Amino acid sequence: MSDTLPALQRIRADVRAMHAYSVQDARGFIKLDAMENPFGLPPALQAELGARLGALALNRYPGDRGADLQRALAAHAQMPEGFRLMLGNGSDELISLLAIACDQPGATVLAPVPGFVMYAMSAKLQGLRFVGVPLTADFELDKAAMLAAIAHEKPAIVYLAYPNNPTANLWDDAVVEKIVEAQGVQGGLVVIDEAYQPFAARSYIDRLARHPHVLLMRTLSKFGLAGIRLGYLMGPAALVAEIDKVRPPYNISVLNCECALFALEHAEVFEAQARQIREERERLVTGLGRLPGVKTWPSDANMVLLRVPDAAKTFEGMKAQGVLVKNVSKMHELLANCLRLTVGTADENARMLAALEASL
Ligand SMILES: Cc1ncc(COP(=O)(O)O)c(C=O)c1O
Repeated sequence: MSDTLPALQRIRADVRAMHAYSVQDARGFIKLDAMENPFGLPPALQAELGARLGALALNRYPGDRGADLQRALAAHAQMPEGFRLMLGNGSDELISLLAIACDQPGATVLAPVPGFVMYAMSAKLQGLRFVGVPLTADFELDKAAMLAAIAHEKPAIVYLAYPNNPTANLWDDAVVEKIVEAQGVQGGLVVIDEAYQPFAARSYIDRLARHPHVLLMRTLSKFGLAGIRLGYLMGPAALVAEIDKVRPPYNISVLNCECALFALEHAEVFEAQARQIREERERLVTGLGRLPGVKTWPSDANMVLLRVPDAAKTFEGMKAQGVLVKNVSKMHELLANCLRLTVGTADENARMLAALEASL
């Protein structure tokens, strides 16, 4: 019946033909599919935050607290002098805003693939062309292919997730610099996406001030606050000021904003959690290394990519045992028979490993 609704014809044909971003139903599962921090807030902090949120003026539009949060995030990230920071409702919103801001005839977005799906999706939704440049078989940047694609396509934006999702690795810094230089020469932007920075050995922040065409994006999602939706973009003030013009007014609710400020005041709690997750990651990788037929790749994030003999069978087997991970094997041909595990608590990881072993 709904297929015959005439009003449906008013929805863009490409939108009707596409699949929505899929979120798996995780109720009742050990949820290790979306790179969330497995730890909650300690009870004393929960009570303190609750009282603070309860006292907010929910009858008012968000006001000056946004500026306080920008200052706190700039200090937290050690943003260089003369740079500017803008806030998004998650990095996802910032990626969409970048597509809007760069939507000129013929504009192209380029990123290595497999990579974070929203780079392609937001470009396509905005009517921009997306060019994915395959990684090598070992999930490294293909320097020659990236440089050739930049020269040929002259993209408005090159995204480099550092570390990458779903492969979890950091890129060779010399290759990153070559890509950044090439993109600068042809007059395009580079967005370094550091969503997984809390778990990574290196950051681009020290190199940011060298290049007037590079933006650095981060999020509080992997820091431990996926539920509040708070991403931020840092870059040369003149550039960020232009992108900020396409941001909807009041895009960060007073609740998001206050939660983020509260979390930054207690950053040491989240830093300790990140440290624990990094330690758990090493234990998990060691455990995975003992399983016959399982190949893993080095991780600088709170996820581990692995290849198993039959990803569909292993995914379903783990699910039947109450453990939800992500089967990424259909995302890209380089990911054949790959699963992506999120690093959880010690107990969750032990149960995940047992379920995996039993489902190979
Ligand atoms: C590389 C990368 N960037 C950005 C995001 C989105 O982050 P946010 O929760 O801030 O929208 C993700 C989410 O998984 C990601 O993997």
